[in-house]
Amino acid sequence: MPAIRVLHGLPRIGHLVGMGLWPLDFLTSLQRNHPDLVTVSINGGSFTLVTNPSLVEEILVTQQKQFQKDKFLKLYAKPVFGNGLLSSDGDFWLRQRRMAQPAFHRTRIAEYTEAMTRHGTASISSIRADEWVDIHPVMMRLTLEIVAETLFGTVPEGSLNQIGSALDRIMHQFAGDTITQFLSQLLNRPLDHAGEAAFQQAVHTFDTVISEIITQRQERYEPGSDLLGMFLAARDDDGAPMTAEQLRDECKTMFLAGHETTALTMSWSLWLLATHPDIQRRLADEIRTVIGIRMPTLEDIRNLPFTEQVIRESMRLYPPAWVLQRESLFDVSLGPLDDPYSIPKEHDVLVSPAAMHRDPRFYAHPDRFMPNRWTPEFVAALPKYAYFPFGGGPRLCIGQQFAMMEVTLLLAQCIQRGHWEAKPFHRVAAQPSITQRPKYGIKLRYKPHVT
Ligand code: HEM
Repeated sequence: MPAIRVLHGLPRIGHLVGMGLWPLDFLTSLQRNHPDLVTVSINGGSFTLVTNPSLVEEILVTQQKQFQKDKFLKLYAKPVFGNGLLSSDGDFWLRQRRMAQPAFHRTRIAEYTEAMTRHGTASISSIRADEWVDIHPVMMRLTLEIVAETLFGTVPEGSLNQIGSALDRIMHQFAGDTITQFLSQLLNRPLDHAGEAAFQQAVHTFDTVISEIITQRQERYEPGSDLLGMFLAARDDDGAPMTAEQLRDECKTMFLAGHETTALTMSWSLWLLATHPDIQRRLADEIRTVIGIRMPTLEDIRNLPFTEQVIRESMRLYPPAWVLQRESLFDVSLGPLDDPYSIPKEHDVLVSPAAMHRDPRFYAHPDRFMPNRWTPEFVAALPKYAYFPFGGGPRLCIGQQFAMMEVTLLLAQCIQRGHWEAKPFHRVAAQPSITQRPKYGIKLRYKPHVT
């Protein structure tokens, strides 16, 4: 049985400095130096980063039953999002997943096109030409409106504002200020007391507003018309509906999972395009040829191969879900049957799209934005789990097709509007928390196309 290399680091704290202060760089460097997997000591415990795509496939797909969602999610996300799809496990998760699945069926998603482009038009036309704007909050608001309308029906403007700022506060707390988070891990106690109070207030507001949306909807009952309708209509084997608590947890989870990830993909894509004008021009040519100046439609999507390459490449460099964590339920053997690696029971295992996607074994010039690398031949030769921005196996993102459709339509609408530029000397950096957010925002402006 091959031994897994263990990196011990400093006495007591292990590699807390690297993982606490520069997690993206730390994991990327582990990925590049360890071909299969590596164990890292951190603050009295340890985790194993799996760096080989075929072992990632074992964790997410073939041996997924040996793992459950991780302690981090349970510790931080559960108090906020409860037992929603993202954080539940086992039979409970399976039942909820089956209930939610029809809302994400291909034909159902097709019906969301009009709402997506309508919100896209309103939001993008509110950005003034030639004026610098932080694009990320704009995209956060836009994708929030889209999730609200497509999955929950009509949500009043005031409730949407409250959800937006509560979620922002909650995610801010998860991200924390890196140094504060680092020190509180080191000392094993929370340090940001003022932030903690605002966080608790945001959790309370989020709960209240979501409960109100559900109650209002129950009063004007429209079964099955959208995700919330399906949840309301769902019955278990004994004919019982979902409890109020379950309903609230699922709705909160969908608001979180369904808007920030897509907003991030939009923000990072626009920034990459703004800093690579030649690639942006090529994209604009494709959009002009296929769509012209009219509203993009569902049928256009399959005729936009370069747009798809741009989105893939942007999610390669900035996958919104930058790390996925699991905990082993048993002692697990990974790799070749005759000579496997051994993972002990109750051990934290990490797989990182962000680190894997920059591995030079699979990507030439891994840090460069090169959408045209995504030829059919390249895709066919790429090991399956060398690219997994939406995860994989049974826990694969339920919103993958929803998100790809949304991002394609919205990106086309942005590019139709004009040529985007990045503000010179504005610092852009990724801040990893649950997702990979732009720490200092992304300042862009567009110049209308000359017709
Ligand atoms: C570009 C956009 C998106 C990205 C990159 C993304 C990424 C992911 C990833 C990596 C997972 C798996 C997490 C794990 O295995 O631990 C996941 C799960 C999930 N995503 Fe997404 N997501 C996106 C958009 C969406 C949208 C639009 C929705 C809903 C409208 C959504 C809802 C969910 C839910 C509910 C889960 C949990 C699924 C389960 O465990 O059954 N996501 N997402």
